[in-house]
Amino acid sequence: MSRSAHPAGPRHADVLTEGHYSAPPADLNALDPKVWAHTVGRDADGAVTVGGIAVTQLAEEYGTPAYILDEADFRERARAWRTAFGTEADVFYAGKAFLSRAVVRWLDEEGLNLDVCSGGELATALSAGMPAERIAFHGNNKSPEEIERAVAAGVGRIVLDSFQEIVRVAHTAESLGKRQRVQIRITVGVEAHTHEFIATAHEDQKFGIPLAGGQAAEAVRRALQLDGIELIGIHSHIGSQIFDMSGFEVAAHRVVGLLKDIRDEHGVELPEIDLGGGLGIAYTSDDDPREPHEIAKALTEIVTRECEGARLRTPRISVEPGRAIVGPTAFTLYEVGTVKPLDGLRTYVSVDGGMSDNIRTALYDAEYSVALASRTSDAEPMLARVVGKHCESGDIVVKDAFLPGDLAPGDLIAVPATGAYCRSMASNYNHVLRPPVVAVRDGEARVIVRRETEEDLLRLDVG
Ligand code: LLP
Repeated sequence: MSRSAHPAGPRHADVLTEGHYSAPPADLNALDPKVWAHTVGRDADGAVTVGGIAVTQLAEEYGTPAYILDEADFRERARAWRTAFGTEADVFYAGKAFLSRAVVRWLDEEGLNLDVCSGGELATALSAGMPAERIAFHGNNKSPEEIERAVAAGVGRIVLDSFQEIVRVAHTAESLGKRQRVQIRITVGVEAHTHEFIATAHEDQKFGIPLAGGQAAEAVRRALQLDGIELIGIHSHIGSQIFDMSGFEVAAHRVVGLLKDIRDEHGVELPEIDLGGGLGIAYTSDDDPREPHEIAKALTEIVTRECEGARLRTPRISVEPGRAIVGPTAFTLYEVGTVKPLDGLRTYVSVDGGMSDNIRTALYDAEYSVALASRTSDAEPMLARVVGKHCESGDIVVKDAFLPGDLAPGDLIAVPATGAYCRSMASNYNHVLRPPVVAVRDGEARVIVRRETEEDLLRLDVG
């Protein structure tokens, strides 16, 4: 899988025989709409534009590196999910993918709900005016303070992740004189075909309560006995960056099986089922994600069929897409600092960011694409590796991609599909400052998360 396993060869990489970039694309200046936000194109000078603004202008005004987010595209994708699932289902945007107050407002306006998984995300959501009843609170180890804040705020549901938490939430709600609506997150034992660190429904990991061995059934038994909570449904999230619907099919089958057991044992038909998020996006031209309407149709059919088989009323379905909404809407804009050809290997292109603004390549061996963004070029393709400025050789943003052979310091390059899990997982490694998020729409740009400053860093360092 890794290109580094290949024998060394000439710089122009025609020796590579497998992988995404076994041959340079026919046109290096082309921008594949699969991996770029919808309003992205090039202007007459060849510069990449988004929302009608050239990246050269954005770089001048906001500096680099910067995450550039296409607001129209975000809204369009959010709306597509909402419309696809209709009024009979709920779409909770997974805030962990990327959350800011502007994003919360867009979601609110587009009629989506919000999944948060920490006190910080909850605070962001509430401060931007998301109605608490449209918030789901997640997490495998919510603190007592977080639970209390969530219950007091009146969140629509808390997703319970352990036996201890069932009791904690019930007691907290009772002490506040409330009855909290909850779901129980179970692990259904599905092996999602994705990276080990982002697969979550196999049993040997920290999330959820296993269906196997009757643990989930026991959790339901306990939850139904407690006055402080109202059990409204079962939750399952099988992992992330998944393309194959068969994992959801197995998960739905097993969740519905549990609903049936609950009906048989307790005489209760739980009204909701949440199938989590995890739908994949295109990071390179080789990825073929499904459209929201196809996903909605498939999931609804699966659940309906399973429920008919079990003679259950079809519960209200909810889903929690994060990456599939925000991922494709943003790209990271970098300035090239150095270009270092290593004879017989590849050319290392160093940019002014790196693993602190995109840890996904180092952490998950993720694949990305890249394009020269400040101009077009007719130069021969060169096999490049885009690396950051951190003191670590694993500081790689794009493992292997073709860039024009005349690439030079000062050029701007853009890495698409960085809207999800890049800013939200950004760090200050090497005391590098986290980039801003600039939202662009209809010819106007505005900062929605500002660039970190050295003052920000020093403010936390109290000496
Ligand atoms: N719901 C639950 C309960 C989740 O745990 C997650 C993601 C989602 C929804 C949203 O999944 P999405 O649709 O965004 O795939 N940092 C990793 C991804 C970790 C996802 C954790 N949970 C990455 O960069 O790929």
